[in-house]
Amino acid sequence: IDLLRDTLDAAKNSSDAYLQHPHHIHYALKANDNPNLLAIIKQRQIGIDCVSGGEIKKAIEAGFNASDIVFAGVGKQDWEIILALEHNIYAFNCESLQELEVINALANKHKKIAKTMLRVNPDIDAKTHKHISTGKYDNKFGIMFDDIISYLAKLNKFKNIQLIGLHYHIGSQITRTSVFAKLASTVTEHYRIMLEEGYSLTDINLGGGLGIDYKNPQKNPLPNFDKYFATINAHLNIPKTIKLHFELGRSLIGQCGILISSVLFIKNTAGTNFAIIDAGMNDLMRPALYNARHNIVALIPSEQMQTYHIVGPVCESTDVFAKNLLLPILTRGDKIIIETCGAYGRVLANQYNSRNLISEFTI
Ligand code: LLP
Repeated sequence: IDLLRDTLDAAKNSSDAYLQHPHHIHYALKANDNPNLLAIIKQRQIGIDCVSGGEIKKAIEAGFNASDIVFAGVGKQDWEIILALEHNIYAFNCESLQELEVINALANKHKKIAKTMLRVNPDIDAKTHKHISTGKYDNKFGIMFDDIISYLAKLNKFKNIQLIGLHYHIGSQITRTSVFAKLASTVTEHYRIMLEEGYSLTDINLGGGLGIDYKNPQKNPLPNFDKYFATINAHLNIPKTIKLHFELGRSLIGQCGILISSVLFIKNTAGTNFAIIDAGMNDLMRPALYNARHNIVALIPSEQMQTYHIVGPVCESTDVFAKNLLLPILTRGDKIIIETCGAYGRVLANQYNSRNLISEFTI
């Protein structure tokens, strides 16, 4: 929790120091929805980015103001849209033109004006794992900018939609600054074209995606927020009165969680040492889903080292946390720590193989 406080302060201080625009950070609740952590985040005047009605409910329960909530997602159901309208959230991040029609119709029925940002698919390669890229033309997310332009004439007919801005989120665990520079210049260009078309937007949402250090979490517990916000500021050439929104998830919380597991068995097969631990891919899905590698440490004082494949007990061959990892010699019962599990860890956990849902503690 101390690291979470420090990370939130660092993000706020950097954004205040480097951005010339009014701005608001919305925590992407999907990364970790633990109520104890949400309570700390709330104290920092950070808003929330939701992708479902369930997340909107959780955010409200945690005490966030609905007016600080933005709502994205390619498949919003009617009840979710109605819930968001009833709460008067800050804005819908609308992902398709058909969705816009549905929001307009539901807003009309419920006598509301839906503040809306259109999510643009800017066709930018986030240079991250392909399963967590969202801004290439063939991804399901967002609307191609040309389609938005050709649709603008119809937009005026939607009396219950107030178009306030454009939204972008091109991927997650982005570690190259040049990607954010490209995003900011693309936004600049889009803003200019919208202005030419007669739309003077008040808000721009740049999404999240800032990556963190999975290899050396102890050395780099804080992401480089300075560089991130400075890059955006340097490449975003739009009026300084426009309010910027950010939807940071992983970078705010990723380093604040660890998974503690115990060695069940050591087995040597065909020259490989398998350390079988009691945590599995159902507890931490990232390695199986994205071939993600988390740093692993063994809590034992030992001089002698050996290489291990660290694997879980689940009946799947992808239930592997590390391969050929050099660790102190392990024996049954030794504790293993898998680091950087604060984001997309517990939220993705499931009960496959009828295993117990992993316990969660906040300290
Ligand atoms: N905004 C939108 C619209 C998003 O879809 C996401 C994440 C975020 C913001 C927050 O992105 P972040 O700052 O955390 O990168 N389960 C995957 C990551 C999936 C990200 C989904 N969207 C993983 O474990 O790597």
